[in-house]
Amino acid sequence: MVIKKIAILFSGEGSNLEKLLAALHNQVFEHCQIEVATTICNRPNAAGIEKSRSYGIEPLIIDHTLYGSREAFDEALVEAIHRSGAELTVLAGFMRFLTPYFTQQVKAINLHPSLLPLFKGGNAIKESFDSPMKIAGISVHYVSEELDGGEIIAQRCFEKSEGMNLEDFEAKIHTLEHELLPETVKNLLNRN
Ligand code: GRF
Repeated sequence: MVIKKIAILFSGEGSNLEKLLAALHNQVFEHCQIEVATTICNRPNAAGIEKSRSYGIEPLIIDHTLYGSREAFDEALVEAIHRSGAELTVLAGFMRFLTPYFTQQVKAINLHPSLLPLFKGGNAIKESFDSPMKIAGISVHYVSEELDGGEIIAQRCFEKSEGMNLEDFEAKIHTLEHELLPETVKNLLNRN
C-alpha cells in the first residue's frame, strides 16, 4: 500500500486540523494510506496544539515572531515540510501571508471561508454575511503567490436563510469546512 504523507499547518482553534486527523490520519483508502507526517503551528498557545497531541502528533512550533523577516520564517517552514516527506501541505486556518519562497517550493492547498474569488482576505466571513448575496460558501484552493488567489479545487455553498445571524452563519461555514477539507484532501491523494 502506497503511503501518502501530508503536513497540516494551523494557527488557532484547530477544528479543521482535528477533522483532518480524524478522517485521514493512518486511514486506508482504495489507492493509498494517508499519514499526517507533521503538524506545524506558528502560535505557541494555539488551542489546536492539544488537538494534534490527542492524535499522538507533537506539533512543531515555528513561532513567526522569532523570525526577522517573512522569508526567514518561510525558510523554516519549507525546511520542516521537506524534512517530513509530505507531498501535500494543507493550510487549515493558518493565518500567515506566505512568500514566493514558500509558494514556489511547497505544493499546498488552503481552506477559505467564502466563495472565491469573492471576499478574499482575513475578513471573509463578515464580508460575505454582510453582502447582499443570497448564497455564501467556502473554497479549497491551491496556494499561490496571490493571497487566496490560486486555482480553485472545490467549493460548497448554502442559501442564507431568513433571520440567520452572524453566529449561525459562521457555524454553517464551519460545518461545511469540516466536511469539504478532508474530502478534498482524500480526493487529491487517493489516485493512482
Ligand atoms: C476557518 O474558518 C478557515 O476557513 C479560516 O480560519 C478558520 C480556522 O478555524 N482560514 P480552525 O482553526 O480550523 O478551527
